[in-house]
Amino acid sequence: MPQISSLILLLLAGSLSFIGCERHPYSQGEIIYKYNCANCHMDDGSGLAKLIPSLDKSRLTLSEPAKLVCLIRNGLPVNKLTGQEMPPNTILNEVELTNLINYLGSKYALKPQTVQAPEVKKMLAGCQTH
Ligand code: HEC
Repeated sequence: MPQISSLILLLLAGSLSFIGCERHPYSQGEIIYKYNCANCHMDDGSGLAKLIPSLDKSRLTLSEPAKLVCLIRNGLPVNKLTGQEMPPNTILNEVELTNLINYLGSKYALKPQTVQAPEVKKMLAGCQTH
């Protein structure tokens, strides 16, 4: 029955192109990265010479969501060698942080762990503020 098999092919092609629209599962996190982090760490995470570290070198931090949450929230003080600091980000809410962390994890972590917003909320509460 040639008609039926071509109908199936048509349906299959249709559903494939539907999947193709979604570039990858963390596209929301990628946008958040571009707006909040890429001006220093660059679009591809390669950093800026000796001044801004490349994210490739921070795979450990990027594999530990609890550390990463606090790093983003609190930033890092001025590094005496480079004179650069990472400013605290107090704009991102727990849902945005969740998307960002899952995106970074999927891209850089050795063993990506996905987090959910309620967990991130708890992690935030556990960060020491200074
Ligand atoms: C204004 C520039 C700037 C922005 C914006 C910025 N960073 Fe950073 N980031 C830095 C600098 C500078 C360092 C290194 C500080 C140091 O040497 O102590 C750093 C360090 C890091 C590290 C390495 C920490 C470690 O201990 O390995 C990670 C991971 C990181 N940033 C992620 C992010 C993420 C995610 C964002 C967006 C939410 C972001 N940064 C936004 C400047 C920035």
